[in-house]
Amino acid sequence: MNVQVSSKGSTFSRIVAGCMNWGEWGVNLTVNEAKELIDNCLDIGVTTFDHADIYGHYTTEKLFGKAIKGNHALREKIQLISKCGIKLVTPNRPDNNITSYDTSKGYIVKSVEESLKKLQTDYLDLLLIHRPSPLMNPNEIAEAFTKLKSKGKVLYFGVSNFTRTQFEMLNTFVPLTTNQIEISPLHLNPFLDGTLDQCITKNIRPMAYSTLAKGSFFASTPGDRVVRINEVANQLARKYNTTLDKILISWLIKHPSGIIPVIGSTKISRIQSAVDALKIRITDEEWFMIWEASMGKSVP
Ligand SMILES: NC(=O)c1ccc[n+]([C@@H]2O[C@H](COP(=O)([O-])OP(=O)(O)OC[C@H]3O[C@@H](n4cnc5c(N)ncnc54)[C@H](OP(=O)(O)O)[C@@H]3O)[C@@H](O)[C@H]2O)c1
Repeated sequence: MNVQVSSKGSTFSRIVAGCMNWGEWGVNLTVNEAKELIDNCLDIGVTTFDHADIYGHYTTEKLFGKAIKGNHALREKIQLISKCGIKLVTPNRPDNNITSYDTSKGYIVKSVEESLKKLQTDYLDLLLIHRPSPLMNPNEIAEAFTKLKSKGKVLYFGVSNFTRTQFEMLNTFVPLTTNQIEISPLHLNPFLDGTLDQCITKNIRPMAYSTLAKGSFFASTPGDRVVRINEVANQLARKYNTTLDKILISWLIKHPSGIIPVIGSTKISRIQSAVDALKIRITDEEWFMIWEASMGKSVP
C-alpha cells in the first residue's frame, strides 16, 4: 500500500524501512545481506528506505549503494530518502571539531551530491534537513532546494525534528512535504505541541521514527512507564490475537494525521509486523488506555 506524503509530494510505502541500523551503527550487514533485506522488504510492500548522510559515521549509504548498484529496474521500484545538515565528529570527517549543524546552500548541495554518489543513484525521492539549526537561513535552504530540484537531483523536500514554527518559517520560502519526528507511546510531545495538528492543517503526512522507542518496550528490565504501557498493550494483543509490537504500531496508525512509521529493525519478520499492524483497528477507548498508561493518569 502506497501513500502520498502531501498533495505535492512523492508516493511512499505506508511502512518505511529505516536504514540507520543496517551498517556500522547497528548490525553491520554485508552487501549481500543488505541486498537480501531490500528484496525481502519489496516482497512485503515496503519500498521506501530512510537514510541520512551521517548513518554509520557517513558509511551506511555506501553499503546500500553497493547493494543496489547497477540495478536500474530496482531503483525504479524503490524510493530513497536521505537527510543532511548534521556535522559529526568522526575520523571520517577530520575537519569537524564539535558536532554542529550546517544548512548553508553550499553544504546542502555538496552533501546531496555525496549521498547520490554513495547510494549509486541519480536522484533522491526526498531530502530532509535532519535537525533545525538556530543559524538556518530559509532563503539559502530554499535556494539549495531549488537548485537540486532543477537539476533533477532531488524530487521533494522536507524536514526532521522541526517545531511548528520552524516548519512554518521554512515552508514560507519553499514547499515542504513532511516532518520526520519521534513519536511513540513513550514520546507523546507531537500529540500535544501542535506538530501533528500542523501536519493535518498543511495536508502533509508526518513520518515517525523510534516508533518502538528504540526497542525499549522489549527491554529485559523495563522502567515503570514501559511496564504500565506493556501491561495494557499486551492485554490488547491478547484480545486481537496479535503481538505487542503490532499493537504499538497500530496505536500510531490510528492518528488522523496518517503517520508513516519508519521502522528501525533489520529483521524482516519485525518489519512484516509493522505491515501487519496496518490491518489492526483498535477502538478509541483502547487508544486512550495506552495514552493513560503512558501518562500515568487519565485524561481530564
Ligand atoms: N530523523 C531522525 O532524527 C531520526 C532519528 C532516529 C531514527 N531515524 C530513522 O528511524 C528509523 C527507526 O529508528 P529507531 O531505530 O530508533 O526505531 P525503532 O524501530 O523504535 O527501534 C529499533 C530497535 O528496536 C529493536 N526492536 C524493534 N522491534 C523489536 C521487537 N519486536 N522486539 C525486540 N526488539 C525490537 C530493534 O532490534 P532488531 O534490529 O534486533 O529488531 C532495533 O534495535 C532509523 O532506522 C532511521 O531511519 C530518524
